Amino acid sequence: MTKPPVAGTTVVSTTVTGAAMTRPDLEVIVRPDIEVVIRPDLEVIVEQENVVRQGSAMSTQVRVAVDDAQRRFAAAGVPSARHDAEELAAFVLGCPRGRVLAAGSFSSGQCVVFSQLVARREARVPLQHLTGSVGFRYLELAVGPGVFVPRPETEVMAGWCVEALLSGMADATKATKAAALAPAPLVIDLCTGSGAIALSIAHEVKNAVVHGVEREPDAFAWARRNTIGSRVTIHQADAAGALADLDGTADLVVSNPPYLPDADRDLVQPEVALHDPAAALWGGHDGLDGPRLVERSARRLLRTGGLLAIEHADQHGPAMTALLAESGAWSDVVVHADLNGRDRFVTARRTAVLADASAPDRAYEAYGVA
Ligand SMILES: C[S@@+](CC[C@H](N)C(=O)[O-])C[C@H]1O[C@@H](n2cnc3c(N)ncnc32)[C@H](O)[C@@H]1O
Repeated sequence: MTKPPVAGTTVVSTTVTGAAMTRPDLEVIVRPDIEVVIRPDLEVIVEQENVVRQGSAMSTQVRVAVDDAQRRFAAAGVPSARHDAEELAAFVLGCPRGRVLAAGSFSSGQCVVFSQLVARREARVPLQHLTGSVGFRYLELAVGPGVFVPRPETEVMAGWCVEALLSGMADATKATKAAALAPAPLVIDLCTGSGAIALSIAHEVKNAVVHGVEREPDAFAWARRNTIGSRVTIHQADAAGALADLDGTADLVVSNPPYLPDADRDLVQPEVALHDPAAALWGGHDGLDGPRLVERSARRLLRTGGLLAIEHADQHGPAMTALLAESGAWSDVVVHADLNGRDRFVTARRTAVLADASAPDRAYEAYGVA
C-alpha cells in the first residue's frame, strides 16, 4: 500500500494516485489529477472539489474546521475571527451559531462549501455578503454587492426613532403638547440603502406611514427586494429634491447618509473599501456633504415640531451641532453616543416653519437654495 502523505506537506497527485489513506476518522481516495494539502490541524483541505470520499468516514469535525478558520481569519486581519468562523459554520449547517460546536461533523458537501466560504472571508469578502443577510434590530435583511451593509450603531439611531414615535403618539393623545407627533406619523428615511431603518420603524411602529429614498440603482434594487410585502414605500430619487409633495408634512426624517471624509479612503478596512458602495461612504473633503444635504431636505420636509435624526462620523458631534445651529431651523439639538460611547447621531426638532415663503431660513440663504 502506498505510504500516506505526511501532514503539513503538499502532495503532488501522481505520487498518491489511487492511494488510500486510512486515519482513525478519515478515509479518502485521492483522484490522480488533483493536488491535496494535508494539514496538521485539519485532516484534509480540499484544494479542488474532486476528492472522492468513501462512506461517511471522510467528514471534517466542525470544531476542528472552525478552529482552523478562526486562525486563518485572524492571520488575514479579520476583526472578529471566531465569530465569523462560527457564523459561516452555522450558515453551512443551517443551525443557530450557538449550536455549531455540538454539530459533530460536516458532511462531505458541507465541508467543500465551508472551505470555499472560508477562503472568501479570508480574502476579506464581508461575512454578510457570504451569508446573504444581516440582522438589524428585529429583522433579517437581504444584502450583497451594491448595497451598504447596515451596522449595529445604526440600530441605536433607529431605536431612538422608534421610541420618539411611540412616546410622541402617547403625548398626542393628550392633545396638550403642540410638538407631539401625530397618531399616524409620517416618516421619511433619506438614503435608505437596504431599507434597514425604514423597515425597522414600520415594523415597530405599527401605524407609521414610512417612505424610503435611495438614489443608487443597485442599492435601490436591494431596498425593493427587502420592502416587498412591507408597509414601506420606496422611491428612487436624490434625497436633495425627493418627495417635494410631502414638504412641511413629515413627523420624522431620519438618515444615515455617506459621511466619511474623503481623506479616510486609505484607513478603512478592506471589507468597506472594496465591498461597500462608494456612494454609501464618502462625504466630501470634510465628510459633511451628506449630512448637509440631509439637513437641508429635512428642513423642507418636516412640519413644525417634527423630528430629525442624522447619523454622522464619531468626530463630527460638534460639527453637526454647529451645522444645525447655523440654519436657525432647529431646537432641542442633542448628540447621541453609539454602543461604544462615541458620538454617532444627532437629533433635533424643527422650529416654526416660516409662513412667509419669501423669508427663507438662514441656511437656505447660505446654500443658495430658494
Ligand atoms: C451609509 S448608506 C446607509 C444605508 C442605510 N440607511 C443604512 O443605514 O444601512 C448611505 C446610502 O445613501 C445613498 N445615497 C447617497 N447619496 C444619496 C443621495 N443624494 N440621495 C439618495 N441616496 C443617496 C447611498 O447609495 C447609500 O445607499
